[in-house]
Amino acid sequence: MHCKPLFAFTLAAALLSPAASAQDRAVLTIHADRTRAKVSPTLYGLMTEEINHSYDGGLYAEMLQNRTFRSDWTGVPHWYLVEQGDSQAKMAIDRESGPSEALRASLRLEVAKAAAASPAGILNEGYWGMAVAPRTTYRGSFYAKSSDITEVIARLVDNNSGKAVATATVSGIGPAWAQHSFSLETGSIAKSAENHFELLVNRPGTLWLNLASLFPPTYHNRPNGNRIDLMEKLAAMHPAFLRFPGGNYLEGDRIADRFDWKKTIGPLVDRAGHQAPWSYYSSDGLGLLEFLEWCEDLHMQPVLAVYAGYSLRGEHAAPGPDLEPYVNEALDELEYVTGGTDTKWGAVRAKDGHPAPFHVTYVEVGNEDQFDRSHSYDARYAQFYKAIKAKYPEIQVIATTPVKGMQPDVIDDHYYRRAVEFFNDVAHYDKIDRNGPRIFVGEWATREGGPTPNFGAALGDAAWMTGMERNSDLIVMSCYAPLLVNIHGLQWDSDLIGYDALNSYGSPSYYAQVMFAGNVGDEIPESGIEGAGPRLFYSVTRGAGGKRLYIKLVNASSTPETVDVQVEGAQLAKSAKLVTLSALGTQATNTIEHPLRVAPVESTIGDTASLRHHAMPGYSIQVIRVDLR
Ligand code: AHR
Repeated sequence: MHCKPLFAFTLAAALLSPAASAQDRAVLTIHADRTRAKVSPTLYGLMTEEINHSYDGGLYAEMLQNRTFRSDWTGVPHWYLVEQGDSQAKMAIDRESGPSEALRASLRLEVAKAAAASPAGILNEGYWGMAVAPRTTYRGSFYAKSSDITEVIARLVDNNSGKAVATATVSGIGPAWAQHSFSLETGSIAKSAENHFELLVNRPGTLWLNLASLFPPTYHNRPNGNRIDLMEKLAAMHPAFLRFPGGNYLEGDRIADRFDWKKTIGPLVDRAGHQAPWSYYSSDGLGLLEFLEWCEDLHMQPVLAVYAGYSLRGEHAAPGPDLEPYVNEALDELEYVTGGTDTKWGAVRAKDGHPAPFHVTYVEVGNEDQFDRSHSYDARYAQFYKAIKAKYPEIQVIATTPVKGMQPDVIDDHYYRRAVEFFNDVAHYDKIDRNGPRIFVGEWATREGGPTPNFGAALGDAAWMTGMERNSDLIVMSCYAPLLVNIHGLQWDSDLIGYDALNSYGSPSYYAQVMFAGNVGDEIPESGIEGAGPRLFYSVTRGAGGKRLYIKLVNASSTPETVDVQVEGAQLAKSAKLVTLSALGTQATNTIEHPLRVAPVESTIGDTASLRHHAMPGYSIQVIRVDLR
């Protein structure tokens, strides 16, 4: 960062390197014994929504795509008829019969001819394949009814060999709708995503099906749970909170398409799913309780965004009586999340399997309401604020844009930028009035590179994070967006973590986040820099009971830079840890095939005296973790 010099430098420091003076390199002075501010303990968190197949085809581990057999003009997407040998069958949607009120239709499979050696049925292609690993158990189920077919064969099949890699026989199918479960166990096969799933019958008859589901092992073995590799990548980010469910996903294109939380809880058969704004349908398998359990698994606070009566295409509820049902919906939601089992909605949560309430500190009212052309947000926010505070006075109510007539507790600022814009605006929050609302940087990203950002973007991100960290007395929370992308199903370039059915990888920006959030500290000591080039940025925090410094340096220029780190008011331990993320050019990036081209390298600084002339490579992001004596 290019601040004015804040401190005078000691003669001893100036004499240390007779060959070079403080004029031709940066001098960073840290007053380790003087505290300027506290770091917000919730500074780094996560924001996700159903975009880029973040949940369906992403974090939510369901392997079958379109498990409820929704149809369109092309037929039943992702499902195909199987007619082996001389078997004959056809499939169609039956709108007259389904297993529940939410799922009122079904797939009708009419088998004219089939036998054990020539079965007929249907197959699902998964989300651009289906990852299958050796010696693994996959748990599945489907709803079915039939008067003449009692047995169904479930199989995972290798696309290339056409051979089953796991098979189970499901019997007991009868004329009434019922759920049938099975498990598929693989042997010593090669791990691959080139597989599909089949449901087959080996005799003529008619079979009705709905909600066919298949799960691999999940994180913490949760039924209906999340993909392990992605959860591990998120855990490595040390997130303090999860902002959910959006983003645009909260609002929906129309009011009817909002995240209607009551339709996302309870048994899956009671969830119809809904049209999401990012061009595809959401199964709602990852519903309100699953969001909360995800928080629980990663020790994150839920930052709950409630629908605020405005949808993306402009439909809105006018403040006053028209808005009241949505305010009540939000109050019910808060009761579901935080209420005891003696409350109406707390009891529903207990019935859904989670008697213990969740703790909520922040509630966000809406999303990006600066785009509301009806200009109703001032009044809508006020109505929600009053109702929420009346019942939950301790909850901090976040506004999505500044409002007239009152001061919100917190305002959510969003930034999607190029790296150079972040470089030029790193001091953005340095001068903001500390008596106004606190800030939640609820969406931000350097948008360079796709589907995941490149190293140039990571430099922009890291520079911006130094500014947020330095101002984290004001910025209570921040989260990058979007977080996740299935590389075969994206709607938005520059997403932090990429994946396909089989593998996942972190972008250079992801690693910058891991480095910052993993070394955050809890206090900001006084510090200042002079002589720094325009593309050198820094932040210093202190942690471990005042006994450790975290020095973050970003050299966003192509040339090396020497930083003289001078620590006053404390002695440095003899050695320190250095983590470096660097690349030879801004376009360097990670991909699904090359996931670790740009990744942090950890090393030891054997003698911290060398920090007095610390040489940074060009295009590098570094964290120095050093204990104080
Ligand atoms: O992060 C992608 C989108 O950007 C979010 O849904 C929306 O809030 C913002 O405009």
